[in-house]
Amino acid sequence: MKIIHIVGARPNFMKAAPLIDSLKDRPGVEQVLVHTGQHYDDNMSKVFFEDLGLPKPDIDLEVGSGSHAQQTAEIMKRIEPILLENAPDMVIVYGDVNSTMATALVCSKLHISLAHVEAGLRSFDRKMPEEINRLLTDQVADLLFVPSAEGVENLLREGVASEKIHLVGNIMIDTLIKLLPGARERRERVLSQVLQSADKRGYGLVTLHRPSNVDDPDMLLLVLNALKNMSSEIPLIFPIHPRTRKKLLESRFSTENSKLHIVDPISYLDFLALQSGSKLVVTDSGGIQEETTYLGVPCLTLRENTERPITVTQGTNLIVGRDLEKLHDEVKKILGGDAKSGQVPHLWDGKTADRIAKILIAR
Ligand code: UD1
Repeated sequence: MKIIHIVGARPNFMKAAPLIDSLKDRPGVEQVLVHTGQHYDDNMSKVFFEDLGLPKPDIDLEVGSGSHAQQTAEIMKRIEPILLENAPDMVIVYGDVNSTMATALVCSKLHISLAHVEAGLRSFDRKMPEEINRLLTDQVADLLFVPSAEGVENLLREGVASEKIHLVGNIMIDTLIKLLPGARERRERVLSQVLQSADKRGYGLVTLHRPSNVDDPDMLLLVLNALKNMSSEIPLIFPIHPRTRKKLLESRFSTENSKLHIVDPISYLDFLALQSGSKLVVTDSGGIQEETTYLGVPCLTLRENTERPITVTQGTNLIVGRDLEKLHDEVKKILGGDAKSGQVPHLWDGKTADRIAKILIAR
């Protein structure tokens, strides 16, 4: 069985790594790893390959950045000849990024079997580019690997045949469980690199990159000023995404005289080291809502909705929308000892990749 894995952007790498690893010693399986090049900076891509022990990509499409149409079209154009030449039995795509959807469309036109890992998630917000990517990918996929039960309901409601759907758990948590001990060991070192001096109150962690939060300069300035204010309660470490950095450079914002520490994007292990020791996380990322739920770290999500509702119903995630006063109030509550507690969802147990591999082999 020849399998092609397609990765392109930062959140794909930790989802592909455990499956590639689980399949590598199974007899009769040949794997090809294709990187679309959607993310290309070393600190958005190369360091993740190193941390995760991912093999070097066999093929790099080097598509780079562009508008949604440009990036999607470029991936489609460059992946089609690769798929025709390699004639895989199965293509596997991950998550909800443009690389995932572009590949899914090409596979469907070429009648190549497609598996989608992290299927069924829905924010029900079609203004999010990722929601369109999820909907389209799931419509054309032949095998849909779903992280939690509400994803199965979403797919059935959209008319996906039940025999294509497999509830397998959260593959990103496989990676987290495997690498957490090593990450913890490096926490002190990472902390000393990003904070000038230790603070006995601990620290919080921030990530922001959604277009809805960072592309509008007024909104970005409001959020940054709110974070700056909050940093008087607890120092905040903010590894900044290149999209956000670009917008920040265009703004008049300065972190001067505050405990908001803006640093370059950091590697998977360094981020996990900080995340697992932080008092709270403020984010608009999807994956971080899940990781904090697993780690039991309070998470405040700066979005109106989430495609991962289980992190709210069972986990430590609280959706604060764009209400920055509420955000500050919730930070104070957490620091006062009144944080939302949670539990680890069913099948987020580190064995998701093996469950997927068994299903693929049985096919
Ligand atoms: C993409 C995904 C998003 C995911 C995020 C994680 C889509 C639609 N979006 O958003 O779901 O949460 O990745 O990071 O696929 N840039 C660099 N260097 C890089 C990559 C990007 O400087 O290595 C800059 C470029 O200016 C680029 C911008 O970041 O235009 C946005 O990159 P892009 O891949 O288009 O989207 P993300 O915001 O990263």
